[in-house]
Amino acid sequence: MTAVPYSRITGTGGYLPPRRVSNDDFVQLLAARGLETSDAWIVERTGIRARHFVDDGVNSSDLALEASRRALEAAGRSAAEVDLIIVATSTPDMVFPSTATILQAKLGVHGCPAFDVQAVCSGFVYALSVADAMIRAGSARCALIVGAEVFSRILDFDDRTTCVLFGDGAGAVVLEASDEPGILATELHADGRHAGILCVPGTVSGGQVLGHPLLRMDGQAVFKLAVGVLENAARAVLAKAGRTEADIDWLIPHQANIRIMNGTARKLKLAPERLVVTVDEHGNTSAASVPLALDAAVRSGRVQRGETVLLEGVGGGFTWGAVLLDF
Ligand code: UT7
Repeated sequence: MTAVPYSRITGTGGYLPPRRVSNDDFVQLLAARGLETSDAWIVERTGIRARHFVDDGVNSSDLALEASRRALEAAGRSAAEVDLIIVATSTPDMVFPSTATILQAKLGVHGCPAFDVQAVCSGFVYALSVADAMIRAGSARCALIVGAEVFSRILDFDDRTTCVLFGDGAGAVVLEASDEPGILATELHADGRHAGILCVPGTVSGGQVLGHPLLRMDGQAVFKLAVGVLENAARAVLAKAGRTEADIDWLIPHQANIRIMNGTARKLKLAPERLVVTVDEHGNTSAASVPLALDAAVRSGRVQRGETVLLEGVGGGFTWGAVLLDF
């Protein structure tokens, strides 16, 4: 295979598990544990109205499979044509093998490289950047990139400050070699000094779970860091591509908190209707949030071919990044 100038998204897909859990459902769920919350608090602080949770026995690879099928169908490709699979997830089916290899088998294909990327809520932006580099280098021509999560499995339902925020789901894109743009520029960053502000500080050792295998977050610390790095990443990726904020047709940031998203849109002088919002109905689905939001915007007819889209991720690690593309 030879190097090509661009990689380009040719299809998107998304999947949410059917069980919708509203804020009022959470009021009852937490009351049973002696904790108080309210629809008003959750909506005002986060913009979240509902999230979806998987049933027992459903794993990230199952959600990834549904999203992948939809993305392949939209791209007019069969699974046999895929020559690279990357799954971004922090909630893999198993310690190993990777969720990407499990997905590959469920798609009924074998042989092509398949691996996971672990960058928490920045995972999809990381995976897309890696796939873009591999395609432009000539290492792949038709990649399946998925963000898939079952965060409901790692939530601490005795911690009301975190358990109301997250949901399950998967989003996928087919990314292909192209002579036309395409992904214009990517920008990835990490600062491991902040690992402790958003983490699941547990591990498996000697047949036992060691540490605390549930999500912990210092919400205010994450909030403050996120606001700054999202603006910087946006400006850096625009400069790399020789574009300006006026060129952005759609901003699709990680869907964690409507206040952070609105703040980023304001700093980039974007009209509110140019911001794609799914956090209200999805909650924070970590690595799945950006491809789920992209798919929703494409399928509703908002994002059109040729328009310029800015994708942004931010989360545990601490990690963050941006991808600027002409859709
Ligand atoms: O996915 C990676 C990226 N993650 C993020 O971007 C998350 C970033 N952080 C946030 O979104 C926000 O910090 C939160 C939504 C997590 C919290 O919002 P906040 O405005 O920072 O609230 P807070 O933590 O300062 O809490 C305010 C009050 C507290 O009560 P007191 O101490 O003032 O009496 C909390 O105990 O709200 C209380 N509170 C709740 N009340 C009702 C916390 N959680 C809840 C709850 N229901 N679920």
